[in-house]
Amino acid sequence: MTSSTFDFARARADFPILSTEVRGNPLTYLDNGATSQKPASVIEAIKRYYSSENSNIHRGVHYLSERATDAYEAARAKTANFLGAPDQDEIIFVRGATEGINLVAHGFIETVLNEGDEILITHMEHHANIVPWQIAAEKTGAVLKVVPVLDNGELDLNTYKSMLSDKTKIVSIVHVSNTLGTINPVEEIIEQAHKLGVPVLLDACQSVPHMPVDISKLDCDFLVFSGHKLFGPTGIGVLWGKREWLEKFPPYQSGGDMIERVDFEGTTYKDIPGKLEAGTPNIEGVIGLSAAIDYVNEMDRTGALAHENALLKDATAKLSAIEGLRIIGTSVEKASILSFVIDEIHPHDIGTFLDADGVAVRAGHHCTQPLLKRFGVPATARASFAFYNNFEDVDRLVDSVVKMQRFFK
Ligand code: ALA
Repeated sequence: MTSSTFDFARARADFPILSTEVRGNPLTYLDNGATSQKPASVIEAIKRYYSSENSNIHRGVHYLSERATDAYEAARAKTANFLGAPDQDEIIFVRGATEGINLVAHGFIETVLNEGDEILITHMEHHANIVPWQIAAEKTGAVLKVVPVLDNGELDLNTYKSMLSDKTKIVSIVHVSNTLGTINPVEEIIEQAHKLGVPVLLDACQSVPHMPVDISKLDCDFLVFSGHKLFGPTGIGVLWGKREWLEKFPPYQSGGDMIERVDFEGTTYKDIPGKLEAGTPNIEGVIGLSAAIDYVNEMDRTGALAHENALLKDATAKLSAIEGLRIIGTSVEKASILSFVIDEIHPHDIGTFLDADGVAVRAGHHCTQPLLKRFGVPATARASFAFYNNFEDVDRLVDSVVKMQRFFK
Protein backbone atom coordinates (compact mmCIF):
# COMPACT_ATOMS: atom_id res chain seq x y z
CA MET A 1 0.00 0.00 0.00
CA THR A 2 1.54 3.28 -1.04
CA SER A 3 0.16 6.73 -0.48
CA SER A 4 2.21 8.70 -2.97
CA THR A 5 4.93 8.44 -5.54
CA PHE A 6 7.49 8.51 -2.73
CA ASP A 7 9.52 5.32 -2.79
CA PHE A 8 9.60 4.63 0.93
CA ALA A 9 10.59 0.99 0.40
CA ARG A 10 13.80 2.21 -1.19
CA ALA A 11 14.26 4.86 1.51
CA ARG A 12 14.07 2.14 4.16
CA ALA A 13 17.02 0.37 2.59
CA ASP A 14 19.13 3.49 3.12
CA PHE A 15 18.93 2.98 6.88
CA PRO A 16 20.98 -0.08 7.89
CA ILE A 17 19.60 -0.23 11.44
CA LEU A 18 16.06 -0.80 10.18
CA SER A 19 16.91 -4.41 9.32
CA THR A 20 17.70 -5.14 12.98
CA GLU A 21 15.82 -8.01 14.62
CA VAL A 22 14.48 -7.44 18.12
CA ARG A 23 13.90 -10.63 20.08
CA GLY A 24 13.06 -12.53 16.92
CA ASN A 25 10.81 -9.77 15.52
CA PRO A 26 11.56 -7.22 12.85
CA LEU A 27 12.35 -3.84 14.38
CA THR A 28 9.36 -1.50 14.24
CA TYR A 29 10.99 1.81 15.00
CA LEU A 30 8.37 4.33 16.08
CA ASP A 31 10.47 6.53 18.32
CA ASN A 32 11.53 9.05 15.71
CA GLY A 33 10.42 11.95 17.88
CA ALA A 34 13.15 11.04 20.36
CA THR A 35 15.77 10.46 17.70
CA SER A 36 15.71 9.48 14.05
CA GLN A 37 17.76 6.73 12.45
CA LYS A 38 20.74 7.56 10.22
CA PRO A 39 21.11 6.77 6.52
CA ALA A 40 24.26 4.98 5.35
CA SER A 41 25.41 8.23 3.69
CA VAL A 42 25.61 9.96 7.09
CA ILE A 43 27.46 7.04 8.67
CA GLU A 44 29.83 6.94 5.68
CA ALA A 45 30.46 10.70 5.78
CA ILE A 46 31.61 10.46 9.40
CA LYS A 47 33.80 7.47 8.58
CA ARG A 48 35.26 9.30 5.58
CA TYR A 49 35.95 12.37 7.68
CA TYR A 50 37.97 10.38 10.20
CA SER A 51 39.65 8.31 7.48
CA SER A 52 40.74 11.16 5.26
CA GLU A 53 40.06 14.64 6.66
CA ASN A 54 40.35 14.60 10.44
CA SER A 55 42.04 17.71 11.75
CA ASN A 56 41.23 20.71 13.87
CA ILE A 57 39.63 23.64 12.07
CA HIS A 58 40.39 27.38 11.78
CA ARG A 59 43.85 26.78 13.22
CA GLY A 60 46.12 24.84 10.91
CA VAL A 61 47.81 25.89 7.72
CA HIS A 62 48.31 22.29 6.70
CA TYR A 63 46.41 20.29 4.11
CA LEU A 64 44.14 18.36 6.47
CA SER A 65 43.21 21.39 8.52
CA GLU A 66 42.27 23.27 5.37
CA ARG A 67 40.13 20.38 4.18
CA ALA A 68 38.37 20.05 7.54
CA THR A 69 37.84 23.83 7.76
CA ASP A 70 36.43 23.93 4.25
CA ALA A 71 34.07 21.05 4.99
CA TYR A 72 32.92 22.67 8.24
CA GLU A 73 32.28 26.06 6.66
CA ALA A 74 30.63 24.51 3.60
CA ALA A 75 28.25 22.80 6.02
CA ARG A 76 27.41 26.19 7.50
CA ALA A 77 26.53 27.55 4.06
CA LYS A 78 24.52 24.40 3.28
CA THR A 79 22.60 24.71 6.56
CA ALA A 80 21.78 28.36 5.83
CA ASN A 81 20.54 27.38 2.41
CA PHE A 82 18.50 24.50 3.84
CA LEU A 83 16.70 26.90 6.18
CA GLY A 84 16.34 29.71 3.66
CA ALA A 85 18.57 31.89 5.85
CA PRO A 86 20.02 34.86 4.00
CA ASP A 87 23.44 34.92 5.66
CA GLN A 88 25.55 31.88 6.56
CA ASP A 89 27.23 33.79 9.42
CA GLU A 90 23.86 33.70 11.19
CA ILE A 91 24.19 29.92 11.58
CA ILE A 92 25.69 28.95 14.94
CA PHE A 93 26.60 25.31 15.46
CA VAL A 94 25.60 24.22 18.94
CA ARG A 95 25.26 20.93 20.81
CA GLY A 96 21.56 20.69 20.11
CA ALA A 97 18.37 22.72 20.28
CA THR A 98 18.68 22.84 24.08
CA GLU A 99 21.99 24.65 23.86
CA GLY A 100 20.61 26.95 21.17
CA ILE A 101 17.73 28.06 23.41
CA ASN A 102 20.07 28.44 26.37
CA LEU A 103 22.32 30.66 24.25
CA VAL A 104 19.43 32.93 23.29
CA ALA A 105 18.09 33.03 26.87
CA HIS A 106 21.60 33.98 28.05
CA GLY A 107 21.73 36.75 25.44
CA PHE A 108 18.37 38.05 26.63
CA ILE A 109 19.45 37.95 30.28
CA GLU A 110 22.51 40.01 29.40
CA THR A 111 21.04 42.48 26.95
CA VAL A 112 17.26 42.73 27.10
CA LEU A 113 15.39 41.51 30.15
CA ASN A 114 14.58 43.70 33.12
CA GLU A 115 12.23 43.46 36.04
CA GLY A 116 8.58 43.31 34.95
CA ASP A 117 9.36 42.33 31.35
CA GLU A 118 7.44 39.36 30.02
CA ILE A 119 8.62 36.18 28.31
CA LEU A 120 5.85 34.40 26.44
CA ILE A 121 5.96 30.62 25.98
CA THR A 122 3.16 28.08 25.61
CA HIS A 123 1.76 25.23 27.67
CA MET A 124 2.97 22.73 25.05
CA GLU A 125 6.69 23.57 25.28
CA HIS A 126 9.39 20.99 25.81
CA HIS A 127 11.30 21.47 29.08
CA ALA A 128 14.16 22.86 26.96
CA ASN A 129 11.94 25.79 26.05
CA ILE A 130 10.65 26.29 29.60
CA VAL A 131 13.55 25.96 32.02
CA PRO A 132 16.03 28.36 30.33
CA TRP A 133 13.32 31.04 30.35
CA GLN A 134 12.39 30.26 33.95
CA ILE A 135 16.02 30.82 34.88
CA ALA A 136 16.09 34.00 32.78
CA ALA A 137 13.02 35.22 34.66
CA GLU A 138 14.56 34.38 38.05
CA LYS A 139 17.77 36.20 37.18
CA THR A 140 16.21 39.35 35.78
CA GLY A 141 12.88 39.74 37.55
CA ALA A 142 11.07 39.16 34.27
CA VAL A 143 7.81 37.23 34.30
CA LEU A 144 7.18 33.95 32.47
CA LYS A 145 3.75 33.90 30.84
CA VAL A 146 2.23 30.73 29.44
CA VAL A 147 -0.26 30.62 26.54
CA PRO A 148 -2.89 27.94 27.22
CA VAL A 149 -3.62 24.90 25.09
CA LEU A 150 -7.15 23.85 24.10
CA ASP A 151 -8.56 20.39 24.79
CA ASN A 152 -7.75 19.16 21.29
CA GLY A 153 -4.11 20.18 21.67
CA GLU A 154 -4.31 23.37 19.64
CA LEU A 155 -2.93 26.59 20.96
CA ASP A 156 -5.46 29.10 22.28
CA LEU A 157 -4.68 31.75 19.69
CA ASN A 158 -7.15 34.34 20.96
CA THR A 159 -5.59 34.23 24.40
CA TYR A 160 -2.14 34.37 22.81
CA LYS A 161 -3.06 37.61 21.06
CA SER A 162 -4.46 39.08 24.26
CA MET A 163 -1.30 38.15 26.19
CA LEU A 164 1.02 40.03 23.84
CA SER A 165 1.78 43.53 25.08
CA ASP A 166 4.50 46.13 25.17
CA LYS A 167 5.89 44.25 28.18
CA THR A 168 6.53 41.15 26.04
CA LYS A 169 10.21 40.91 25.17
CA ILE A 170 10.25 37.53 23.42
CA VAL A 171 7.87 34.81 22.25
CA SER A 172 9.52 31.38 22.35
CA ILE A 173 7.36 28.70 20.82
CA VAL A 174 7.45 25.19 19.47
CA HIS A 175 6.60 24.69 15.79
CA VAL A 176 5.42 21.08 16.17
CA SER A 177 4.64 19.67 19.63
CA ASN A 178 6.77 16.61 20.39
CA THR A 179 3.97 15.20 22.56
CA LEU A 180 0.76 16.20 20.79
CA GLY A 181 1.96 16.47 17.21
CA THR A 182 0.15 19.83 16.93
CA ILE A 183 1.49 21.99 14.12
CA ASN A 184 1.25 25.53 15.40
CA PRO A 185 0.20 28.32 13.00
CA VAL A 186 3.58 29.95 13.38
CA GLU A 187 3.15 32.41 10.50
CA GLU A 188 0.23 33.99 12.32
CA ILE A 189 1.95 33.79 15.69
CA ILE A 190 5.04 35.55 14.32
CA GLU A 191 2.97 38.17 12.52
CA GLN A 192 1.06 39.02 15.70
CA ALA A 193 4.27 39.30 17.74
CA HIS A 194 5.95 41.45 15.12
CA LYS A 195 3.04 43.89 15.12
CA LEU A 196 4.28 44.82 18.58
CA GLY A 197 7.95 44.52 17.64
CA VAL A 198 8.37 41.32 19.70
CA PRO A 199 10.99 38.82 18.44
CA VAL A 200 10.07 35.14 18.08
CA LEU A 201 12.17 32.05 18.69
CA LEU A 202 10.96 28.94 16.91
CA ASP A 203 11.78 25.49 18.28
CA ALA A 204 11.80 23.56 15.02
CA CYS A 205 13.10 20.24 16.37
CA GLN A 206 10.00 18.29 15.38
CA SER A 207 9.13 20.24 12.24
CA VAL A 208 12.40 20.28 10.31
CA PRO A 209 12.47 16.45 9.95
CA HIS A 210 8.94 16.40 8.52
CA MET A 211 8.42 19.52 6.44
CA PRO A 212 10.35 22.29 4.72
CA VAL A 213 10.90 25.20 7.11
CA ASP A 214 11.77 28.42 5.33
CA ILE A 215 13.05 31.28 7.45
CA SER A 216 12.81 33.73 4.57
CA LYS A 217 9.03 33.17 4.53
CA LEU A 218 8.42 32.73 8.26
CA ASP A 219 10.46 35.77 9.25
CA CYS A 220 11.08 34.46 12.77
CA ASP A 221 14.02 35.95 14.68
CA PHE A 222 15.63 32.76 16.00
CA LEU A 223 15.24 29.12 15.09
CA VAL A 224 16.75 26.02 16.67
CA PHE A 225 16.83 22.36 15.74
CA SER A 226 18.80 19.26 16.66
CA GLY A 227 20.79 17.27 14.12
CA HIS A 228 19.90 13.86 15.52
CA LYS A 229 16.21 14.32 14.82
CA LEU A 230 17.04 15.21 11.21
CA PHE A 231 18.75 11.87 10.46
CA GLY A 232 22.11 13.30 11.53
CA PRO A 233 24.35 12.61 14.52
CA THR A 234 23.74 13.42 18.17
CA GLY A 235 25.64 16.27 19.83
CA ILE A 236 25.14 18.74 17.00
CA GLY A 237 22.42 21.30 16.53
CA VAL A 238 21.76 24.61 14.88
CA LEU A 239 20.85 28.01 16.18
CA TRP A 240 19.94 30.50 13.50
CA GLY A 241 19.40 34.08 14.60
CA LYS A 242 19.09 37.42 12.89
CA ARG A 243 22.46 39.13 12.66
CA GLU A 244 21.43 42.17 14.70
CA TRP A 245 20.53 39.92 17.63
CA LEU A 246 23.57 37.65 17.48
CA GLU A 247 25.88 40.65 17.20
CA LYS A 248 24.27 42.19 20.27
CA PHE A 249 24.73 39.04 22.38
CA PRO A 250 27.86 38.75 24.51
CA PRO A 251 29.81 35.46 24.25
CA TYR A 252 27.89 32.50 25.66
CA GLN A 253 31.04 30.53 26.33
CA SER A 254 34.58 31.81 26.06
CA GLY A 255 37.99 30.40 25.25
CA GLY A 256 39.77 29.37 22.09
CA ASP A 257 38.64 30.16 18.54
CA MET A 258 36.13 32.83 19.58
CA ILE A 259 38.69 35.58 20.12
CA GLU A 260 40.34 38.12 17.88
CA ARG A 261 43.07 39.11 20.34
CA VAL A 262 43.79 38.18 23.96
CA ASP A 263 45.77 40.31 26.39
CA PHE A 264 45.77 40.09 30.14
CA GLU A 265 44.39 43.62 30.03
CA GLY A 266 41.45 42.55 27.93
CA THR A 267 40.17 40.46 25.04
CA THR A 268 38.43 41.24 21.78
CA TYR A 269 36.12 38.77 20.10
CA LYS A 270 35.56 37.51 16.59
CA ASP A 271 32.48 38.56 14.68
CA ILE A 272 29.63 36.08 14.45
CA PRO A 273 29.54 33.13 14.06
CA GLY A 274 33.00 32.68 15.66
CA LYS A 275 32.14 34.74 18.75
CA LEU A 276 29.46 32.21 19.67
CA GLU A 277 31.39 29.01 18.92
CA ALA A 278 34.08 28.74 21.61
CA GLY A 279 36.55 25.85 21.64
CA THR A 280 37.04 23.01 19.20
CA PRO A 281 33.57 22.36 17.86
CA ASN A 282 31.85 19.10 17.04
CA ILE A 283 33.45 18.84 13.59
CA GLU A 284 32.38 15.24 13.12
CA GLY A 285 28.82 16.22 14.02
CA VAL A 286 28.79 19.06 11.50
CA ILE A 287 30.09 16.73 8.76
CA GLY A 288 27.37 14.21 9.64
CA LEU A 289 24.69 16.90 9.74
CA SER A 290 25.84 18.15 6.36
CA ALA A 291 25.39 14.65 4.90
CA ALA A 292 21.96 14.43 6.55
CA ILE A 293 20.92 17.71 4.94
CA ASP A 294 22.11 16.37 1.57
CA TYR A 295 19.99 13.29 2.13
CA VAL A 296 16.91 15.32 2.99
CA ASN A 297 17.51 17.74 0.10
CA GLU A 298 17.57 14.85 -2.35
CA MET A 299 14.34 13.44 -0.99
CA ASP A 300 10.88 14.07 -2.40
CA ARG A 301 9.79 15.97 0.70
CA THR A 302 6.23 16.49 -0.43
CA GLY A 303 5.90 12.77 -1.05
CA ALA A 304 7.53 11.94 2.29
CA LEU A 305 5.15 14.24 4.13
CA ALA A 306 2.13 12.77 2.33
CA HIS A 307 3.35 9.29 3.23
CA GLU A 308 3.81 10.23 6.91
CA ASN A 309 0.35 11.81 6.98
CA ALA A 310 -1.13 8.62 5.54
CA LEU A 311 0.64 6.58 8.25
CA LEU A 312 -0.71 8.93 10.91
CA LYS A 313 -4.24 8.66 9.51
CA ASP A 314 -4.07 4.88 9.37
CA ALA A 315 -2.63 4.58 12.90
CA THR A 316 -5.13 7.10 14.28
CA ALA A 317 -8.10 5.25 12.79
CA LYS A 318 -6.91 1.83 13.97
CA LEU A 319 -5.88 2.91 17.48
CA SER A 320 -9.03 5.00 18.00
CA ALA A 321 -11.10 1.90 17.37
CA ILE A 322 -9.55 0.18 20.40
CA GLU A 323 -11.76 0.37 23.47
CA GLY A 324 -10.20 2.14 26.41
CA LEU A 325 -7.53 3.84 24.29
CA ARG A 326 -7.46 7.63 24.25
CA ILE A 327 -5.38 9.74 21.92
CA ILE A 328 -3.88 12.84 23.51
CA GLY A 329 -3.57 15.56 20.89
CA THR A 330 -6.20 15.70 18.18
CA SER A 331 -5.49 19.01 16.51
CA VAL A 332 -6.52 19.45 12.91
CA GLU A 333 -3.00 20.33 11.76
CA LYS A 334 -0.91 17.49 13.09
CA ALA A 335 2.46 15.92 12.35
CA SER A 336 3.04 12.16 12.51
CA ILE A 337 3.25 11.98 16.30
CA LEU A 338 0.65 9.92 18.12
CA SER A 339 0.41 9.98 21.92
CA PHE A 340 -2.04 7.68 23.65
CA VAL A 341 -3.06 6.27 27.00
CA ILE A 342 -4.97 3.07 27.71
CA ASP A 343 -7.31 2.55 30.66
CA GLU A 344 -5.62 0.75 33.53
CA ILE A 345 -2.32 0.13 31.75
CA HIS A 346 0.59 2.38 32.66
CA PRO A 347 2.40 3.84 29.62
CA HIS A 348 5.65 2.28 30.84
CA ASP A 349 3.97 -1.12 30.74
CA ILE A 350 2.73 -0.31 27.24
CA GLY A 351 6.28 0.55 26.17
CA THR A 352 7.71 -2.61 27.71
CA PHE A 353 5.03 -4.86 26.27
CA LEU A 354 5.38 -3.39 22.78
CA ASP A 355 9.14 -3.74 22.96
CA ALA A 356 8.75 -7.50 23.41
CA ASP A 357 7.17 -7.46 19.93
CA GLY A 358 9.99 -5.34 18.53
CA VAL A 359 7.89 -2.15 18.55
CA ALA A 360 9.87 0.84 19.84
CA VAL A 361 7.75 3.71 21.19
CA ARG A 362 8.54 6.29 23.83
CA ALA A 363 6.72 6.03 27.14
CA GLY A 364 6.89 8.79 29.73
CA HIS A 365 6.37 12.51 30.01
CA HIS A 366 8.31 13.39 26.84
CA CYS A 367 9.98 16.28 28.67
CA THR A 368 6.62 18.08 28.75
CA GLN A 369 5.44 17.56 32.32
CA PRO A 370 3.29 20.73 32.52
CA LEU A 371 1.52 19.74 29.30
CA LEU A 372 0.71 16.24 30.53
CA LYS A 373 -0.55 17.68 33.79
CA ARG A 374 -2.85 19.90 31.71
CA PHE A 375 -4.28 16.73 30.12
CA GLY A 376 -4.56 14.98 33.47
CA VAL A 377 -2.11 12.17 32.72
CA PRO A 378 1.34 11.55 34.19
CA ALA A 379 2.65 9.93 31.03
CA THR A 380 1.66 8.67 27.59
CA ALA A 381 2.90 6.12 25.10
CA ARG A 382 4.01 7.88 21.93
CA ALA A 383 4.46 6.48 18.44
CA SER A 384 6.28 8.89 16.15
CA PHE A 385 6.65 8.10 12.46
CA ALA A 386 9.32 8.97 9.92
CA PHE A 387 9.16 8.67 6.14
CA TYR A 388 10.91 5.29 6.31
CA ASN A 389 8.10 3.74 8.32
CA ASN A 390 5.46 1.77 6.47
CA PHE A 391 1.94 0.49 6.93
CA GLU A 392 3.24 -2.81 8.28
CA ASP A 393 4.79 -0.81 11.13
CA VAL A 394 1.35 0.63 11.88
CA ASP A 395 -0.19 -2.85 11.88
CA ARG A 396 2.51 -4.25 14.16
CA LEU A 397 1.90 -1.40 16.59
CA VAL A 398 -1.85 -1.96 16.56
CA ASP A 399 -1.58 -5.77 16.80
CA SER A 400 0.77 -5.48 19.75
CA VAL A 401 -1.57 -3.05 21.55
CA VAL A 402 -4.53 -5.40 21.01
CA LYS A 403 -2.48 -8.38 22.24
CA MET A 404 -1.41 -6.39 25.30
CA GLN A 405 -4.96 -5.48 26.21
CA ARG A 406 -5.95 -9.15 26.06
CA PHE A 407 -2.98 -10.01 28.24
CA PHE A 408 -3.82 -7.41 30.89
CA LYS A 409 -7.51 -8.36 30.95
N1 ALA B 1 12.63 15.67 22.83
C1 ALA B 1 12.77 14.30 22.47
C2 ALA B 1 11.45 13.58 22.49
O1 ALA B 1 10.43 14.18 22.29
C3 ALA B 1 13.83 13.60 23.20
O2 ALA B 1 11.42 12.38 22.70
